[in-house]
Amino acid sequence: MLQTSNHTKVMQTEIAFHRCINPACGATYEPRSIRTSCDKCGDLLDIAYDWDRAAVPSKMSDFEAMWSQRTNPVRFSGVWRFHELLPFARQDEIVTVGEGQTLLQQTDSVGDYVGMNHGQLHLQYEGMNPSGSFKDNGMCAAVTHANMMGAKRAACASTGNTSASLALYCSATRLMKAIIFIGSGKISYGKLSQALDYGALTVQIAGDFDDAMIRVRQVSQELGIYLVNSVNPFRLEGQKTIMFRVLESLGWEVPDWIVVPGGNLGNSSAFAKAFMELKELGLVDRVPRLAIINASGADTLYELVERRGVRWNGGDVNMDPIREYNDVMDRDKIRADTIASAIEINRPVNLKKCLRALEFMDGVVRQVSDQEILDAKAKVGAGGFGCEPASAASVAGAKLLRREGVIAPSDRVVCILTGHELKDPTATVAYHTTDQDLFNKTLGSRGVTKASHANRAIAVPNELDDIMKAIELYS
Ligand code: F0G
Repeated sequence: MLQTSNHTKVMQTEIAFHRCINPACGATYEPRSIRTSCDKCGDLLDIAYDWDRAAVPSKMSDFEAMWSQRTNPVRFSGVWRFHELLPFARQDEIVTVGEGQTLLQQTDSVGDYVGMNHGQLHLQYEGMNPSGSFKDNGMCAAVTHANMMGAKRAACASTGNTSASLALYCSATRLMKAIIFIGSGKISYGKLSQALDYGALTVQIAGDFDDAMIRVRQVSQELGIYLVNSVNPFRLEGQKTIMFRVLESLGWEVPDWIVVPGGNLGNSSAFAKAFMELKELGLVDRVPRLAIINASGADTLYELVERRGVRWNGGDVNMDPIREYNDVMDRDKIRADTIASAIEINRPVNLKKCLRALEFMDGVVRQVSDQEILDAKAKVGAGGFGCEPASAASVAGAKLLRREGVIAPSDRVVCILTGHELKDPTATVAYHTTDQDLFNKTLGSRGVTKASHANRAIAVPNELDDIMKAIELYS
């Protein structure tokens, strides 16, 4: 039996708490407080639960009972129908805009491209969320906590999707004002247009995402504005549910691989936390492996993990190589640069949580070029529902790992497609264009030399015969 709302009221304020991720510190703080780091040691925080006192179902399939409760907005949500696995708020405190109605598609055309046996490649379309990206999974949780804390203003730095999501939650619920920080010229039009249309106060910093991130943290601290970037541990509680829905779509079977693009590393951190908890609760018997894919123009995680050997090491992370690489980035003025603007990030804020995720899920990190990203994106478009460039890094990464033999053709693989096709039409049109100047300007400058999977428009005179001839010739 799942818990009733009365039960929820008594129990849930008591069972959640902040806990420092550093096992040597392990400081805890009460959940009804606003914090993004540990007061004692400065490390990141998790939201932890006293599961013994929570009403957790005995098996994942118990959640199927929620499907019949779709008239209740909380249970309609693809995030909150798993409320028992993120029980930090009372039901009556929950904020939802109907997020998480997303789809897991099994596709052999993309599977062939990746090199998988038929039936084995799956794409999880998080772009189907209300604001068009996976961010809504986390934003509903962060805005719920912000609302519990009485926040009237919420802020984030963003490469575009976090800001679109925050702006949407604020416009749709009218609970608080959105203040978003973006790097100038660094955000695709699809995403910028959302923030503007939803009425967010949009602050364009003369710098990139990393600059915006530093500033928003300072400003939030100074002005007491609620910060919703993924350093906010409540965000990641919501993002855990992407994994729950993957399991749900697979009939509660655990896949062999989860492949995800890596930017600020919130998703990868959240996915591992989901499986840590499911394992602890006895709700799964095994854990998938994790592959995190960087764009080669924004490859800090790849550099640190695969080249410099940085590991979680049971929580005892050797910080020297991280400091050294940060110094190298400053000295050589290395700035992230990729067509996958969503993941154009130098210093991922969830790095340590991600190292923990890699250890727990026996993970690997790879990097893929903008060429590989755009080719994979065209394949996803032609063989599925489409995605934005950063999302296609997961498919390009799966292909690379197949080539390397790390992923076997018989493995069951789930690539997370983080953002909607329409988020960045500029990149898509430039890939498929016949206009060489447009191609060179948008893509050539990033080392993309060909568009092997382009679907080019055909130009015809405005004559019926010519139009019909062209259609007969090409279809
Ligand atoms: N894919 C998309 C479409 C994203 O928007 C992001 C991050 C990522 C992947 C990376 O996810 O940070 O969990 O590793 N976008 C952030 C933003 C940074 O501001 O919208 P991550």
